[in-house]
Order: sequence, then C-alpha cells, then structure tokens
Amino acid sequence: MHPDIRRIAINTGGGDAPGLNAVIRAVVLAAERLGWEVYGIRDSYDGLFEENGVVRLDRRAVRGITHLGGTILGTTNHGNPLRWPVKGPDGAVTYQDRSDEVIEALERLEIDALIAVGGDGSLEIAHTLFQKGLRVVGVPKTIDNDLAATNLTFGFLTAVETATDAIDKLHSTAEAHQRVMCVEVMGRHAGWIAMFSGLAGTADVILIPEIPYRIERVCEKIEARYAEGREFAIVVVAEGAYPVGGEPLFRVEAGGQKRLGGMAQVVAMDITERTGRETRHLVLGHLQRGGGPNAYDRLLALRFGAAAVKLVRDGCFGCMVALDPPDVLAVPLGQAVASTKTVPLDGDIVATARAMGICLGD
Ligand code: F6P
Repeated sequence: MHPDIRRIAINTGGGDAPGLNAVIRAVVLAAERLGWEVYGIRDSYDGLFEENGVVRLDRRAVRGITHLGGTILGTTNHGNPLRWPVKGPDGAVTYQDRSDEVIEALERLEIDALIAVGGDGSLEIAHTLFQKGLRVVGVPKTIDNDLAATNLTFGFLTAVETATDAIDKLHSTAEAHQRVMCVEVMGRHAGWIAMFSGLAGTADVILIPEIPYRIERVCEKIEARYAEGREFAIVVVAEGAYPVGGEPLFRVEAGGQKRLGGMAQVVAMDITERTGRETRHLVLGHLQRGGGPNAYDRLLALRFGAAAVKLVRDGCFGCMVALDPPDVLAVPLGQAVASTKTVPLDGDIVATARAMGICLGD
C-alpha cells in the first residue's frame, strides 16, 4: 500500500465513450474503501483553471450512474494544457504550455495522484505530466478501439452495437427500393468499428483505412449481387477509408484540428456514376458515442476503474490499465501511446470477411 495517498483526482478527456461514468463510480467506491477522498476535475483539465472546476466525489455523487452515457465530469477534446490556445490582441492564436500550472493546481488541492481517463491524446498528456513528476495512472477509453497495449477499450462494443443496429435497419429500406446504401461509421484511422459492425450486420462491402479501396472492385461486387437477384447492397465505409492513390477526407477546424468525414458520400456518388444504381449515403456520426454502455462495456469500465485504484495503491505510476484477456493488468503509458492499433490484415477478422465473400475493396 502506498503510504502517503489520501486524496486522488479523476478526469475524463477527449471524445466521450459509453462507460466513462462506470469508471468514475468504480474509482470512487474502490478509493473510499481504502479511506481516500476522490475529487473530479471538470472538462478534462479545464476545471483546474476555473472556479468550482473541481468537485468532491463521494459515494452519493456516483449513485445510479453505471448505466449512463456521457460523463458526469464533462470532457473536451480542445483542453490540452500542453498546447493551450491563447488569442492575442490582433486575434492571432498562439499556444502555451500550462503543464506546470496543472501540477501546481493539483499540489494546492493536496491531490496525491491523478487517474486520467482518455484516448491517445489524453493519455499522451498524462504521460508528459508523469514525466514532469505527477503521479498518474491512465485508463484507456475510446469507441475507436485504436489504442495499442490494450485488447479492448470500453465504449467500442457499444458503438459497434449501435452501428450494427443501424445496418440491420438499412437492409429493409435498401431492399424495398433496390438501392445501394453507403453508411459511414467512425473509427478515425482504424477500421475496427467498420469491420465489427459490417460483419455482424452482414454488409456486402466494408471499406477500411487499412485497405485502400478500388471503386471498380466495389462496383463489381454490387453488380454481382444484382445479377444474382439480390437487388440491393449495403456498403460500410469507415470514416478514415480512402481509395488507392487517394487520401482520407477531412476538414480542418479552427484550432487546426482535423475532422474526418465525407467518404461514404463520395463512394455512393462513384457507385451511381459507374453502375447507374440508385444510391443513398448516411453518416452515423456521434450516435455511435451516445447512449449508455452495453453490459460488456459497463463491466470493462468497472474493472478498469477498480484496477486503476489498485495501481495507485501499489504506487504503479506512469502506467495504464489494460485488458489482456482474461486479465486487467498494467502497461507503461509510454508504450500505450507509442502506436495506433489498426486492424491486422493477417488477423481472423479480415480472414472471416474474405471467407464470407465480403468485398474489402481490394
Ligand atoms: O475518437 C472518437 C471519435 O468519435 C472518432 O471516431 C471521430 O473521428 C472523432 O472522435 C470525432 O470527434 P468530435 O467529437 O470532436 O467530432
């Protein structure tokens, strides 16, 4: 048991994922059993720079939240204390490193350790703060499932369920109108959500960033279906997918952040142009992040929360909890943020899709 832990803090950073509240609850309950106090920082690190931005979390504050989506602490994917935007008098934005202020604020609050729940961006911040001396333990979250060093992140399977449900529903309207439906799912530069939901939802074509596609192959598959008398098709397009020789579509937002999106529309237009088939496209977008976690994600989030408290207790700082089935264990934060986990081309998910005759665009 680490001798000098009395108070810990927790924050949730980056895009939300179903299961964040379950982590918060598990952390609070497990920490209270060790006699510690828990404080929640609002909106990632922003709360440290604001009045009333840090709140006491006791067991009453986390009652009845395991099944709720979102996060009771709020989150942001703009609040990077290592690159804090400051607008000058001329309107020009410059960036400041406020990491020392983060550490000072936590010292002022007499916080002995921080549990940082986040995706790759938030965990990179946590890693830097650890290197500057803060006692940090990370908890991985993202619907994209693209974090190396953990077999799964919570939120992913709930997002897959939402996407699969949408694909199931698209079948009847596609068949009724003999249309090709192109549905865009999230996942950034990894095709996990597309592969899992596309397979479970029996899509005809799945396009992922790991396999640049050829539109001719996609059209051949669609034409083959119509020729067989199956006069509709479902095409799942990962938001990060792109054609051979092309690149992912994104727009750059104020603050320089890239937002992926739009490839399903391009694929749909190309299919119509080449085959004359009527197509429609839709983007599932943030629906995939919404709602409560499914039972598996709740459980994984609770396990991660309890394990994170155990790591703090054991003084295992600079680590992240990770699922290595059937266990939850600790991995160095540095290792966790070193690379993106993409869909392995020689893995069984791709093999299953190919064995079933699903077109992957190549
Ligand atoms: O990382 C989670 C995620 O939902 C990605 O799949 C998606 O590209 C991105 O976040 C969207 O971010 P925002 O909520 O800022 O639009």
